[in-house]
Amino acid sequence: MRKRKPLLLKAVYPGTFDPITNGHIDIIDRGSSIFDEIIVAILRNPEKQPLFSIEERIQMIEKAIAGFPNVRIETFDGLLVDYAEKIGAKVIVRGLRAISDFEYELQMAMMNRRIKSNLETVFMMPCESYSYLSSKLVREVAELGGKLTGLVPAEVEKRLQERFRSKKRC
Ligand code: PNS
Repeated sequence: MRKRKPLLLKAVYPGTFDPITNGHIDIIDRGSSIFDEIIVAILRNPEKQPLFSIEERIQMIEKAIAGFPNVRIETFDGLLVDYAEKIGAKVIVRGLRAISDFEYELQMAMMNRRIKSNLETVFMMPCESYSYLSSKLVREVAELGGKLTGLVPAEVEKRLQERFRSKKRC
């Protein structure tokens, strides 16, 4: 019998990451111990008005993933499934925080499967202490001057404070 090459399982973890939170990092951590490689893929979406530019988000994510040798960052536009196929990813990783996430995530997973049936979506649950955490809430709390320690990396908290300080001055 011919020896089979071990399958290298590459996963894509797509999102907006505006900004990355400790919940995202928790998913990256869990995923990096299962998959051979994870590509954190930021959607370049001209329709959304993000708080941080793509370059700023890349810088923050690069710092956050520095300790994970099998994780790297890229950006994409167009259909996620096309991008996943282009880079040879077999799996799409998405975080599921609560049942409220499920409907939207299921719709996306089913649509993605309909377009490309050989791609699997794998849902991963972050640590329960991050189950209420979202980039949107993080932006809102930061804008209103609340503390985010322990919910986002220190670098992200610093950038949020700077961003809203400079916005107030305008
Ligand atoms: O962090 P988000 O905003 O929940 O991520 C959503 C994202 C980027 C995963 C989703 O909007 C996406 O995959 N967009 C790419 C365009 C696409 O493939 N749309 C069809 C999805 S069914």
